Amino acid sequence: MPEIQLQRLRPDHAPALLAFERENRAFFAASVPDRGDDYFTDFAARHAALLAEQETGACHFHVLVAEDGEILGRFNVVNVADGSADLGFRLAEKATGRGLATEAVRQILKACERTYGLTTVRAAAALTNTASRAVLTRMGFVLTGEELVLSGKRGVGYVRHLPAETPTAAPAPTPTPTPT
Ligand SMILES: CC(C)(COP(=O)(O)OP(=O)(O)OC[C@H]1O[C@@H](n2cnc3c(N)ncnc32)[C@H](O)[C@@H]1OP(=O)(O)O)[C@@H](O)C(=O)NCCC(=O)NCCS
Repeated sequence: MPEIQLQRLRPDHAPALLAFERENRAFFAASVPDRGDDYFTDFAARHAALLAEQETGACHFHVLVAEDGEILGRFNVVNVADGSADLGFRLAEKATGRGLATEAVRQILKACERTYGLTTVRAAAALTNTASRAVLTRMGFVLTGEELVLSGKRGVGYVRHLPAETPTAAPAPTPTPTPT
């Protein structure tokens, strides 16, 4: 199986990241706000600015990279402050529907807990974004009850505490009497 890796954003990811954003622009715009034309023309400067911001510890950007260097997704941990942060993600259209986002979020949560020292991760999704909501729910995010407006669409807020609550221990099995 070809290896797909989650990597922390680096300067040399720029060309593949731009290709990813270009190829999937229409797909993303169907669920999340379009980035606008300036994003694409000013991409190099923006990439440098994101890396500089990452250096400060205020955010942690990640990309999902195929064996040949193609970028298949991005998973951003932003607004890091006081042990909490916001998570956002997007996956290439051709890579959807095979659990990649779920697996990447699983790895991101591990990094948030063990590497970034976070205890709370928040996320938000449009009410109609079934795929995103499915990923968040499967990864243990729970609804906060907030009603949000995300670029004009009704949305919901999610939160995930780290580490996950330890499930209560299963009751001890009743011993089977041994024949004497
Ligand atoms: C949201 C997104 C990351 C999901 O990626 P993905 O790799 O397909 O996600 P997964 O395969 O891990 O899980 C998606 C789940 O949603 C389900 N799903 C997808 N579309 C669905 C739909 N329209 N109705 C019901 N369920 C749907 C899938 O079946 C899957 O669940 P299953 O494994 O139980 O079948 C991807 O679709 C995407 O990038 N969309 C555009 C940007 C975006 O919306 N980002 C999130 C902003 S909050």
